[in-house]
Amino acid sequence: MITLKSNPQAAATRPFHKSCGADVIDAIYERRSVRSYDDYKLGVRTIEHLIDAAIQAPSARNEQPWCFVVVQDKALLHRISERAKALARSHLEPGAPMWEHRAMLEDPRYDVFYGASTLIVLCARSRESQAAEDVCLAAQNLMLAAHGLGLGSCPIGFAREALNEPEFRRELGLDGPETAVFPVIVGMPSSFPAPTSRRPAIIVRWR
Ligand SMILES: Cc1cc2nc3c(=O)[nH]c(=O)nc-3n(C[C@H](O)[C@H](O)[C@H](O)COP(=O)(O)O)c2cc1C
Repeated sequence: MITLKSNPQAAATRPFHKSCGADVIDAIYERRSVRSYDDYKLGVRTIEHLIDAAIQAPSARNEQPWCFVVVQDKALLHRISERAKALARSHLEPGAPMWEHRAMLEDPRYDVFYGASTLIVLCARSRESQAAEDVCLAAQNLMLAAHGLGLGSCPIGFAREALNEPEFRRELGLDGPETAVFPVIVGMPSSFPAPTSRRPAIIVRWR
């Protein structure tokens, strides 16, 4: 059974009354991207549990086109982080999305994984037209399940380009058509982030 660890900061923004929702509604509204972690290494059973939740996601034609890479080796996490920063620096130009963060990219203390003990890379096993969508749905399941277990998570799209480079692909066992689609860090939060805002949904037409 998954026990929800409540993040009271998010409760005010939740439109559902608790009695008409299930735990999943709590998880959807309470989950936040966590960017500070305790130095606590997740156990095998916990990671298996998260991956098992991930693969409950729907997929086109039920093809389940996902596979997973788990990285807990600190030295490897550091190398991926440094390479992600170097790649981002190489794409820097005024107006680029990372331009405002250029000082951070030069900072050797900046870890793109925020000190999380575990990186789970959700990969597509094929280049099937809807494989990436399926993998993203699995990622959301994984992050909600992490929240349900009292863990923090954060997507790290920043690391994707590095993860798909030949050197890391080899090291991570991605030696076929697999593509890293959705890297997620998971760990024990050292603090809960403030709630993020949402713009109102735009319903273009309802007829
Ligand atoms: C595809 C994707 C890639 C993301 N990549 C990063 C990232 O590289 N680093 C980071 O700190 N947050 C990343 N995020 C997290 C977003 O910044 C975050 O989801 C957004 O600010 C909303 O905050 P919330 O998740 O707390 O609701 C990413 C989110 C998504 C969906």
